[in-house]
Amino acid sequence: MTDLVRTTVANGVYQIEMNRPDKKNALTAEMYSAMADGLVEAEANPAVRVILIYGSQGNFTAGNDLSDFLRNPPADKNSPVFRFINGFANLQKPFVAAVEGIAVGVGTTMLLHCDLVYAGSGARFCLPFANLGLTPEAGSSLLLAQRIGHVRAAEMLMLGEQFNAEFALYSGLVNAVIPDGQVVEHALSRCEKLAMQPAASIRITKDLMVRNQRPLVREIMARESLIFGQQLGSPEAKEAFSAFLEKRRPDFSKIT
Ligand code: COA
Repeated sequence: MTDLVRTTVANGVYQIEMNRPDKKNALTAEMYSAMADGLVEAEANPAVRVILIYGSQGNFTAGNDLSDFLRNPPADKNSPVFRFINGFANLQKPFVAAVEGIAVGVGTTMLLHCDLVYAGSGARFCLPFANLGLTPEAGSSLLLAQRIGHVRAAEMLMLGEQFNAEFALYSGLVNAVIPDGQVVEHALSRCEKLAMQPAASIRITKDLMVRNQRPLVREIMARESLIFGQQLGSPEAKEAFSAFLEKRRPDFSKIT
């Protein structure tokens, strides 16, 4: 496993740490692959009762690494990014996130698949898919509106502005806001408590909570992935990605 993703197991908790602090933990294909493998391993290991994900050095993740994404665009459902997304969307064990700092793109959409989410007081969330000439992924075109209502979801997905931890709490995207620097410790103590609960009850509770919706989420995610792949090759996405890499504002005015 790459050093950019660290995994450990202790006290029934499988921890996944995104560890690329100089790039705000932006995710490369190599990292997606390691995390997808980690989820498979965690599900298969009977000693694991809960999965916790967090980022190193005060940030959750800046989402897809845009340069790597251009070099290695996801080709099909077996590509690392889709393996990871499908992995967390189909977990049987509880999935918990500790979010400090930046949580962009998949850093926010994965939270829609978590059972518990704790955010630092300085956490900043953002869904900049449209800003990048792209479209929603990880079931967010369905799940976000379900969770927070259409108008708030549309604002987040269409305007792609940052929002803070307080707004995330008010919107029902996180369980609690914790002082920065204490979020992973807090989330870990919740995970350890969860790991002590009766395993079958927890497994069945999660299954009952997600069972009806999962086939629909899978269908939506397959459609989103197809469209996302097509949009990646669009003139809008090319302009947005070039602008990011050239550290300038994108100009979409001439693209219809
Ligand atoms: N892909 C590639 N590199 C990224 C990245 C990403 N998603 N996010 C951050 N980085 C890199 C920056 O280019 C910079 O690299 P450099 O030091 O070599 O110039 C480094 O990480 C630090 O980021 P910086 O932009 O200086 O930090 P910031 O605190 O000012 O801003 C963000 C943080 C996350 C708001 C900003 O980096 C950003 O908007 N990133 C793009 C997020 C994004 O669009 N993700 C894709 C979602 S689909």
